Amino acid sequence: MYYPDNLVEEVRTRNDIVDVISSYVRLQKKGSNHFGLCPFHNEKSPSFSVNQARQMYHCFGCGKSGNVITFIMEYENYTFQEALKLLADRAGVTLPEIEYSARDRERDNLKARILEAYKEAGKYYYYQLRSEAGKRAYEYFTGRGLSDDTLKKFGLGYAVTGRNLMYRYLKSKGYDDNVLKEMHIFYVNEREGMTDMFWNRAIFPIMDVNHRIIAFGGRVMGKGEPKYLNSPETMIFDKGRNLYGLNHARTSRKGNIIVCEGYMDVISLHQAGFDQAVGSLGTALTSGHVNLLKRYTDNVLLCYDNDEAGKKANLRAIPLLRAAGIPTKVLDLSPYKDPDEFLKELGPEEFEKRIENAGNPFYYEVGVLETGYDLNDPDGRTRFTGEVAKMLLKFEDAIERDNYLEGICKRYRINADNMRKLLAKLAARGEGLPEYEKPRSTSYGSKKDPEGGIKKAQRLLLTWLCEEPEIYKKISRYLSSDDFSGDIYRTVAQILFEQINEGKVNPAGIISRFTNEEEQSEVGSLFNTKLDKLNTKAEKEKAFKDILLKVKTHSLDLKAREADPTDIDLISTVLENKKILRELGELQIELSEDTEEQ
Ligand code: CTP
Ligand code: MN
Repeated sequence: MYYPDNLVEEVRTRNDIVDVISSYVRLQKKGSNHFGLCPFHNEKSPSFSVNQARQMYHCFGCGKSGNVITFIMEYENYTFQEALKLLADRAGVTLPEIEYSARDRERDNLKARILEAYKEAGKYYYYQLRSEAGKRAYEYFTGRGLSDDTLKKFGLGYAVTGRNLMYRYLKSKGYDDNVLKEMHIFYVNEREGMTDMFWNRAIFPIMDVNHRIIAFGGRVMGKGEPKYLNSPETMIFDKGRNLYGLNHARTSRKGNIIVCEGYMDVISLHQAGFDQAVGSLGTALTSGHVNLLKRYTDNVLLCYDNDEAGKKANLRAIPLLRAAGIPTKVLDLSPYKDPDEFLKELGPEEFEKRIENAGNPFYYEVGVLETGYDLNDPDGRTRFTGEVAKMLLKFEDAIERDNYLEGICKRYRINADNMRKLLAKLAARGEGLPEYEKPRSTSYGSKKDPEGGIKKAQRLLLTWLCEEPEIYKKISRYLSSDDFSGDIYRTVAQILFEQINEGKVNPAGIISRFTNEEEQSEVGSLFNTKLDKLNTKAEKEKAFKDILLKVKTHSLDLKAREADPTDIDLISTVLENKKILRELGELQIELSEDTEEQ
């Protein structure tokens, strides 16, 4: 890790989690927890809890959990270092200067100057839109139905006609040519020097998720080519990693993200109340976009233009989203061309209906395929069926594959058994069916448990031991970190047991030992597994023992299975294991009267 553990701990402990989260989420105290609406998923009644004693948060709705550092990381989309910096500043802790090379420092300074200059340029365009010379553009925007609030929300502007107005303006603000050159909103010309790229264009500032301008798009007034002129990629702007409007959409509470094509589509959608819309701005969705989306949602609605280009965009986006495990649907806008036009003609309620009726992406792909075949012709049908079979083979999960097979066969009146035979034939020829069934990548926040509840039992055990560390002493003879599955659980158990032995249980501190966001969230959830409500002390003791036995039995079974079957000691190991379990079964575990209610 970058900073020493004790410093990370200092920053963490000096930022009370309830204080910090309160400035983002309205919290109400209920029992020993504070509750509020979860900022990480859409909900109407609060299931997001913050526990002051433990210095952790946990959402019973979406499963996100962690400590104050992971909260900032998730909420602000910060890296660990950035989150630590914010919290250190907040608490007045000085972090040591990171060892920069002179080149890095220069680059960072230049970047910071460029960002300032973009902000300044954005303000100037914004001001020009409201000037006498900007009247035409202002009328253009209002003519397209945009309100003043919308103009402001998206910082829309105008570049008046002039050779180098912006250049001179930024010069007057003290920016050097080397900074201005890197902005890539000027043409550099031997004879004429630097001239403005945008003349007489409506201006759309492109912002990153933190509302910082990182590029501009300009639309021609009236007819003209190109219709949209965008400033190119720079050291700051990477087209494939930015989505227009995500700075707003990321705090939307709609529970999905609508991906569309153009500036005006995003803006009209937001104005109509669909504040979860983002735009990939005329370029195809990239895996960079998909990764970005994955941070903010697990539900994508594709809403590309209803034309050839939009169809291509859908067909490229679907496999990327599928590979990332993001549930996706495709919106049908027909008979209209794009969301902007749709909203103008039919309004938000009808659009909402299109969202509700959005189609399955696999059916969409097959639907596009279908247009290339004549299904009334036996030959066309046969070839179509063969192509569909190949597409079905791409599903690695057998159940999912079969569900799609059933669905598609019903839809196209194909005999499902014949289809299964065809798939088997293709697979036998090696046409792509994976040999093993890979566990499907679990999507962000949802944790599946393929091992029949064993992980849940392990989580419960950790949560319980964290709540009542005294019990550990009674069972420590029987339980070690090796009894847990996987690196994360094992590491956590090991640290927790050390902490218990030292008499200072501190689960929030354990989270900071992990640097990867997903790991942190998983670790957080380990300590927040919901214990069933149990009434009597006897019930609790029985429940605890069941969990403990389940964890131990699983661990011993696993060890026995992994052992060499010709090993002559195996039988004695098995007998030994039986003895351990019997002892555990007879152990008297005295629990306290009241565990904390979650
Ligand atoms: N685009 C572009 N350059 C072009 C045309 C389009 O960068 N020459 C991008 C823009 O981001 C645009 C998006 O592709 O918003 C969608 O293009 P199109 O459907 O042609 O534009 P609309 O958004 O429908 O444009 P408008 O409504 O302003 O006519
Ligand atoms: Mn369009």
